[in-house]
Amino acid sequence: MKKIQLSQTGVEVSCLCLGTLRFGTRNNYDQSAQLMDMYVEAGGCFIDTANCYDQWCSQGKGGESEVTIGRWLRERGLREQLFIATKVGFGYRDVPDGLAASTIISECENSLRRLGTDYIDLLYAHKDDLNTPLEETLSAFNKLVKDGKIRFFGASNYLAWRLADADGIASQKGWASFTCVEQRCTYLRPNPGADLSPQQIIDQNLMTYCDARGKTMLPYTPLLRGAYVRSDRPIPSPYRGPDTDVRLGVLHEVAQELGATANQVVLAWMMHRQPPLLPVFSARNPEQMKENLGALDIALSAEQMERLNQAGHCLNDEPV
Ligand SMILES: NC(=O)c1ccc[n+]([C@@H]2O[C@H](COP(=O)([O-])OP(=O)(O)OC[C@H]3O[C@@H](n4cnc5c(N)ncnc54)[C@H](OP(=O)(O)O)[C@@H]3O)[C@@H](O)[C@H]2O)c1
Repeated sequence: MKKIQLSQTGVEVSCLCLGTLRFGTRNNYDQSAQLMDMYVEAGGCFIDTANCYDQWCSQGKGGESEVTIGRWLRERGLREQLFIATKVGFGYRDVPDGLAASTIISECENSLRRLGTDYIDLLYAHKDDLNTPLEETLSAFNKLVKDGKIRFFGASNYLAWRLADADGIASQKGWASFTCVEQRCTYLRPNPGADLSPQQIIDQNLMTYCDARGKTMLPYTPLLRGAYVRSDRPIPSPYRGPDTDVRLGVLHEVAQELGATANQVVLAWMMHRQPPLLPVFSARNPEQMKENLGALDIALSAEQMERLNQAGHCLNDEPV
């Protein structure tokens, strides 16, 4: 699997990141370990989790995904070869919602314990917290960097202007800032004004800002949970707009030209962007994993990229 530099860190990570939201809950340990093994066998080294995964699943209370990864890391002895990202910011069990310094510091300890490691490569603020001063949040992340508990920190579900504020504070104080941004994004574009909160999408503002500042953008839910290829999973309503059919048409056309699936083309389209997007994908079973990893073998021509980018372009644009 190709590696790319994460933002301007000088550190190289796999061009596809494996999401583990459902590992340890809907996928039991053996199933999860098999999926992580497949990803690593394909050359992957970048794993994404969160302290609260998966409190949104009926079997989960939060912490299960990290515990599953921790056990697998121990059994395989792989810690040093992998780049592990986790997150803090959503309330779960008795942990409060938000990014108070005390929450960040104590949750980092809990994540370290569950993952069975003495450092985290990347700790995200899982969502913005407008009630805690940004300076307090950044100061806590910086303390963790200084103490060697985390290597980098990132932002997830942030608006561009808040990242700009954070970068301003960091540069004034001589601190590190949010290295990269994990945000919702897929090939289909949500309708203007669609509210997916607390999830935030990669929009034009964020793209312009992150490109200018050299921050890697990591799209989550890139496959719309299988909606591109599954009749049992309709395209979610925020993505049903005037350009949906045109974009789906071009996506499937390009997939057919390449003998690929729509899922593979979506991931390849992200990885072919310049600078590349780094998709955070997942899979429920080995068949899905194999298909999704097949995106690594897809070469999109400049003409196909242009067609995918331009499809329905004038139909869903916000009025100026
Ligand atoms: N930062 C955040 O706020 C945030 C939010 C959401 C997710 N994430 C991260 O991003 C990761 C990926 O998110 P996601 O799971 O929503 O992304 P996704 O890759 O769009 O969806 C994965 C799901 O899609 C279905 N699927 C995957 N491959 C398929 C295939 N080849 N054919 C048919 N169906 C397929 C499966 O659904 P079924 O399991 O139903 O079969 C699978 O569980 C998460 O694990 C998590 O680490 C972060």
